[in-house]
Amino acid sequence: MLNDTLRNQSFKSAIETAVKQGYTSVLDIGTGTGLLSMFAAKAGAQEVYSCEMSKTMYELAGDVLVANQMKDKVHLIHAKSTDITVPDDIPKRVPLIVTETVDAGLLGEGMLSTLDHAWEHLLLSDKTQARVIPSGATVVACLVECEAIRKQNRLLYPGLCQLDLTQVSLVCKTSVPHRQQRDGTAVEDDDDDDEEDEEEEEPYTTENLKYVRGGYRAISDTTCVFQFDFNDPQAIRKYRKGISRDLQLPVIATGRLDAIAMWFVLELDPDTHLSTSPSSDRCWEQAIFPVLPEHIHSHGCERRENLVVREGEMVHVHCSVANDLIHLYCTDIKREIPGTQKNQPQGACTSSSQSSLSFGDVFRPVPSYSFCGFEDNSVSQGAYQFVENSEDSLRDCDENSHSLRVRDLSQGEKLNSTVDAGTQGCSSISSYGASINTDKTISTSTSKCDTYSFGGCPSPKSTLLLERHELGRLNDIEVNTAYFSAVQKLQQEKTGLSILDITQGFSALCLQSLLQGAAQVTLTGQDETNQMILRHISEANQIDAGKLLFVNGLPEEGDQGYDVLVTELVEPCGALRQQVLEDIALAKVSHLRPGGGVVPQRTSVYGMCIHSEKLKEYSMVVSDQSTLGWNIAQFINDFKMRTHVDVDLQTLPYTRLTEPFKIFDFDFNLPHSSDMLNFLEKDVTVRVPACENGSLTGVVYWFDIYVADAVRLCTLDEPRHWRQAVVMMAEDLDVTLGDGLCIQARCRNSCIDITVK
Ligand SMILES: C[S@@+](CC[C@H](N)C(=O)[O-])C[C@H]1O[C@@H](n2cnc3c(N)ncnc32)[C@H](O)[C@@H]1O
Repeated sequence: MLNDTLRNQSFKSAIETAVKQGYTSVLDIGTGTGLLSMFAAKAGAQEVYSCEMSKTMYELAGDVLVANQMKDKVHLIHAKSTDITVPDDIPKRVPLIVTETVDAGLLGEGMLSTLDHAWEHLLLSDKTQARVIPSGATVVACLVECEAIRKQNRLLYPGLCQLDLTQVSLVCKTSVPHRQQRDGTAVEDDDDDDEEDEEEEEPYTTENLKYVRGGYRAISDTTCVFQFDFNDPQAIRKYRKGISRDLQLPVIATGRLDAIAMWFVLELDPDTHLSTSPSSDRCWEQAIFPVLPEHIHSHGCERRENLVVREGEMVHVHCSVANDLIHLYCTDIKREIPGTQKNQPQGACTSSSQSSLSFGDVFRPVPSYSFCGFEDNSVSQGAYQFVENSEDSLRDCDENSHSLRVRDLSQGEKLNSTVDAGTQGCSSISSYGASINTDKTISTSTSKCDTYSFGGCPSPKSTLLLERHELGRLNDIEVNTAYFSAVQKLQQEKTGLSILDITQGFSALCLQSLLQGAAQVTLTGQDETNQMILRHISEANQIDAGKLLFVNGLPEEGDQGYDVLVTELVEPCGALRQQVLEDIALAKVSHLRPGGGVVPQRTSVYGMCIHSEKLKEYSMVVSDQSTLGWNIAQFINDFKMRTHVDVDLQTLPYTRLTEPFKIFDFDFNLPHSSDMLNFLEKDVTVRVPACENGSLTGVVYWFDIYVADAVRLCTLDEPRHWRQAVVMMAEDLDVTLGDGLCIQARCRNSCIDITVK
């Protein structure tokens, strides 16, 4: 944020103009480091008050004001603005409030309640003499196709390694619509289920679409959704009570409807605008509202499992402001009636000020993006066939019986596919996919899980909510298949395996193993939701519930009765899972029978030195230049410097300063001996020549995971679900081509640390 020079410059310019116009008593709400207050004081404001609710930021702002000789000019208050009173905290009402409490979804930091309170209690009572910077915002949205978003929204496969998942719809929590009526008012609680309300997720995630893995495509034009006037207290009240509108967006390019992307143009004053569009490269990402088949409820119950939309169709989007947040929700897809709507979005903003605003870009399909081609009724993606894509009548929705009839998928609509691991030295992995009975009728009455209704066409499936990263992991077919084949191989050697799975996160492998004939699977660290989901799926797959055990920590000591120990090693962020090596060591010593196997067998860690300005921007204030000469970097960097960050090396702009080098080997299957836990503590020194001149920003590392003999997964490969971890250098280190770099790496408590000399 502080590296965003244009953001800083725009606020400075709007504040200077207002002070020159006579607004010389200013309250900065959410001052952060104090930057906007210093702009106001420097511009000549006579009284500058700034409030900050975070104690850490308040203290930091104090240091920044001292360092910039502004301590006497800015009166700093540690408080949330809505707790400020006149004359206790500030002597009198002010004519000008400046605030940059804006998130990717515009209102997510509580802008409406902040301004509602400010207009009532803190700004001059004569509204004509008072104003707010920013003065307003125009919110825009477009429909996007984006595989990376899709993979984190919902399970894309009806089966995973023999596990039938046709009865359940596993979706991300963000995709559950806000509990409200179409007019924007909240739904009365009819089931006294307060917990559910408490757990309600934000309605959007955020993504920097410019750098999203695999790219994205806009499949509609960018359309105005709402315009907010922050200088109109009545309007703010109205937004807070709830507003809504329905939009129809014409599809301009055939594709898959994965999400509605939203961003905004912030109007600081009539002459100063800031767009947060994907191409703007501002510090704000875009808000992403996922679209699910469950959201679409045409009268004919025409749910589109594949969410393919075609040029000329209309996508209906319900837009609302409720609970002080913007919600966008796709409700329907309809074919355009010939002669109407000629590519004109219905209900576009009509305010007169709109013409002066730039919405940023009107995105057309990006030519360089490689979109997986599809024919009418199937979309293929790499080696996998999306059976769910058969758009017409693969599934018939029977409203009355609330049941789902699944056609015989084996007749020409096979799920099974041979997946090649596709990495050097790997064997090909055997087939995956669910075997689904012909014409079976599945009742939904078995559900003991929290299930969610999306309204409209009743879904015959139970909708179960998972975390995004867990869905990303489940949709990584190659990872599923690798783990499955490793356990399958062990089952071939010994029937009736007893398996201990210490993965902690959601694991489908336990159920797949039971289907394969495992005698019992014990899982550690599964929260209640995961337990319910696993029980639900096991019931649907006729798996004996007694064979699936959940324990909080590791089971009681002394039962060295497990044949196999299974775990996930690497978090989606690319670092080792917290305490994973210690967990393996403990479980291996206490619970694995001698001769038992650990899956994965071993792993090697590789590193590479890189320079990246973008990476620096993510993790620190790059210089005082970006804050227009104010001395802030030193303070925020001291406080913020993170040693580890995660990146997507596929999209991060960077220069490689060395070739990749090996750092560690961890072998989890050494026979029982005094040395078998040697993976717990490691120290190595590696010497590597620099292959380029540049300043070293960090060392990125990744894992080659040998799940079984010759079955390798690499956390760097596309399209795996992992990102990569980077150890940031405390200070830039200049390197020259040919320099010998001395890399010292250590691993303690499953944390990898790297220094370079
Ligand atoms: C995005 S930062 C902006 C910092 C600074 N204004 C700038 O532009 O660099 C927002 C800050 O506002 C604070 N904040 C948000 N709402 C607030 C409120 N109603 N009262 C006081 N502080 C608030 C947050 O704690 C956070 O530090």
